[in-house]
Amino acid sequence: MRIYKFDEIDSTNKFLREKEDVIEGDLAIAKVQTLGRGRRGNKWVSTEGAALFSFVLKHDIEIPEEEYMKLSILIGYSLLYSLKKIENLDYKFKWTNDLYLDEKKISGILVEKIRDNYIIGIGLNINNLNLEEAKSIAISLREKTGKTYDLEKVIATVVEDFYNNFQEFKKGKWKEILEKINKVNYLYGKRINIVTFDKEESGIAGDILEDGMLEVFIGDEIKKYNIGSIHIS
Ligand code: BTN
Repeated sequence: MRIYKFDEIDSTNKFLREKEDVIEGDLAIAKVQTLGRGRRGNKWVSTEGAALFSFVLKHDIEIPEEEYMKLSILIGYSLLYSLKKIENLDYKFKWTNDLYLDEKKISGILVEKIRDNYIIGIGLNINNLNLEEAKSIAISLREKTGKTYDLEKVIATVVEDFYNNFQEFKKGKWKEILEKINKVNYLYGKRINIVTFDKEESGIAGDILEDGMLEVFIGDEIKKYNIGSIHIS
C-alpha cells in the first residue's frame, strides 16, 4: 500500500486510473481537485475541507457484470458505518452510490473498473462549508455538528473499514450486509421517477434486492431496476 498526497490535482480517480503500476491498497488523497468527477461525467465540487480520495481494489473475485452494483452498495454500507463511528447520526444510503444526512448529500462514490482493478473514489463532505446553491442539496459534518475533524484519520477509518467489510463480503456475508443496508435505505417508500432509454415512469421505491437491484412498485406491478439503465429523480 502506498499513499499519494496532493495539495491540488485534477482528480484522484484519474491519477490512479492512469497509473500503470498500481497495487492493491494504493491510496490517493487530495486537498483540492480541479476536475473532480462524479457518475455520468457530472462535476464533483471539490473544495478544501472535504475528504477527497481514491484507492485501489484488486479485482480478485468474480462479480458478474450485472452485479457490479453490489460493490458500490458495499462501499456505501461500509462508509455509512465508518461515519457512524465518527459521529453517530442518522445517515441514509441512497441506492446505489450516495449517502444522505438530513435529506442532503454528504457523500458520493464513483467506482471505475480499469484492467484488473477497481478504482474506488469517495468524496465526503467533512470540514468544507457548502456555499450558495450547493447549500440546499449538500451538507457537511461540520455544518451539522459545528466541529472540525482530522481528515487523514477519517480517510484511514473509511479505507480500513472497507477492506474489512470486503473480507466479510468475500466470505459470503452479503445477505447480512443487505439486511443492514435496507434499514437505512433512503429511497424506501419514496415516489421516484425512473427514466429509461425509451420511457419515463413513476413509482414507489421498495427494498434493495439480493442481486443489488431496486424494487419499484408501479401501479399493480413490481419491477426491478439496475442503475445502469435508469435515472432517478
Ligand atoms: C457522485 O456522487 O457522482 C460520485 C462523486 C465521487 C467524487 C470523488 S472525489 C474523489 C474521487 N475523485 C474524483 O474525481 N471523483 C471521486
